[in-house]
Amino acid sequence: MCKYNVVLCTLLLCLPYVTHNCFVEEEPTKPNIFDIVLFTQRWPLTACYMWKESSKSHSCLLPKQNKWTIHGIWPTQFHHTGPQFCNTSLSFDKNILAPIENELKEKWTDIQKGSKPYSFWKHEWDKHGTCAVTIEKLNSVFKYFQTGLKLLDTYNMIDVLKKANIEPGEKYMINDLLRAVQKILKKRAQVICTKNKKTGELYVNEIRICFDKTLQLVDCDGVYNFPTNCDKSELIMYPSSVPRNYQINKLVIDILLMRRIIITLVNVL
Ligand SMILES: *[C@@H]1O[C@H](CO)[C@@H](O)[C@H](O)[C@H]1NC(C)=O
Repeated sequence: MCKYNVVLCTLLLCLPYVTHNCFVEEEPTKPNIFDIVLFTQRWPLTACYMWKESSKSHSCLLPKQNKWTIHGIWPTQFHHTGPQFCNTSLSFDKNILAPIENELKEKWTDIQKGSKPYSFWKHEWDKHGTCAVTIEKLNSVFKYFQTGLKLLDTYNMIDVLKKANIEPGEKYMINDLLRAVQKILKKRAQVICTKNKKTGELYVNEIRICFDKTLQLVDCDGVYNFPTNCDKSELIMYPSSVPRNYQINKLVIDILLMRRIIITLVNVL
């Protein structure tokens, strides 16, 4: 049977394991062969939306400043994701991060409020940092996170986009966003969107810029999903507050409230 329907079989075989992670992602110890390094920034308001959307009980921890935050530094092969989880013996040590911990909280923020302390950083280290160690500036837990902070200070997308007159609270076509980054940084980046399943609205989620192994900025051409996963024909929101799910309901509530106020006023008069 498996011969004839590989996809179905994979799913069936995976069913008992879905709570873990059936697919290759969690596979330990892979050779760390890669072409370039993605530096992934995320827009915290969109990240918060996605986190809240996944469960009613979720709430967010947002940075104090209205800036992009780090998701991770990801060694990557062209046309693929990964390598990932390259060396399980390179364990994450939170104590080493003490001198930069406050800065990490603000700039490498774990949006998912209430999650296990350090789990986001540990995850990024285990999954990507252990692969990045062949690069001198990324070859320890401390250097991986410190280099991330430096890259964010240099390339924070709030500043890059602002220089091209792209600001939160507006909608843009994907080509405007891609062109804006290219115009300011002189290199082609990758933009990742997320879709509001209830309203269909698209939000800017991540912007990834690329570095070679000497950490020189390079074009992202050739990375998986380059240059974008966003719909090219639709406007994309760069939100200035955490997007709400029930925009239509909210509108209805506003209209009802307005009607009430008007009726009250009419009665009084
Ligand atoms: C994993 O890291 C350890 C400690 O640095 C090293 O001795 C070992 O060779 C590494 N293994 C791989 C597969 O790179």
